[in-house]
Amino acid sequence: KKRIAFLVSGRGSNFQAVLDAVAAGDIPGICVGLVTDNPEAYAIERAKNAGVPVMVVDYAGFPTKAAYEEALLVAMRGCRADLFVLAGYMRILGTGIVREFSGRMMNIHPALLPAFSGLHAQRQAIEYGVKVAGCTVHLVDEGMDTGPIVVQRCVPVLPDDDETRLADRILAEEHKALPLAVKLFCENRLEVDGRRVWVR
Ligand code: GAR
Repeated sequence: KKRIAFLVSGRGSNFQAVLDAVAAGDIPGICVGLVTDNPEAYAIERAKNAGVPVMVVDYAGFPTKAAYEEALLVAMRGCRADLFVLAGYMRILGTGIVREFSGRMMNIHPALLPAFSGLHAQRQAIEYGVKVAGCTVHLVDEGMDTGPIVVQRCVPVLPDDDETRLADRILAEEHKALPLAVKLFCENRLEVDGRRVWVR
């Protein structure tokens, strides 16, 4: 079984979706740790309820981003994870961390990349006026939301959508896409060929 660890900043509903899929036996993995930059994150309660160890690396407790990332890296190494899942981690990771976990770190983003990277992706989609939106699970590389794509799922944008309604519709798809991507990784079924990821 693969050791799966998570980096989460907030609510943690995507983290929960993976916890549930592991508990249901759909994913051949074991959830070994939650690392969070936010001591108030609701994800902490979810981890405790599931018996998953929690490491809080409070961003506000460090004088510089470099000092924070040094502590974050120590916490991440301590998980001895085969896979690190960024599930609503709302900061950009430094290149040191990205390199160390290259090929075994994935991120969920609430847009059909490469459109609408960065923050407030759902609002960007509404403002642009696209008719189709969705979510992307990708491997993490040194760019922002630029790594090889593993899974995408789409939803329609409907006439009276606001940011919240669209975000809710996308979130329901995120909760399918992320467990699927984690499952494929844990089953050793992902083959990375440059930018393209094949499912065996
Ligand atoms: C999700 O919509 C995720 O795609 C997004 O934050 C939300 C976290 O929700 N991530 C990003 O925007 C990353 N830039 P959750 O904590 O309930 O999983």
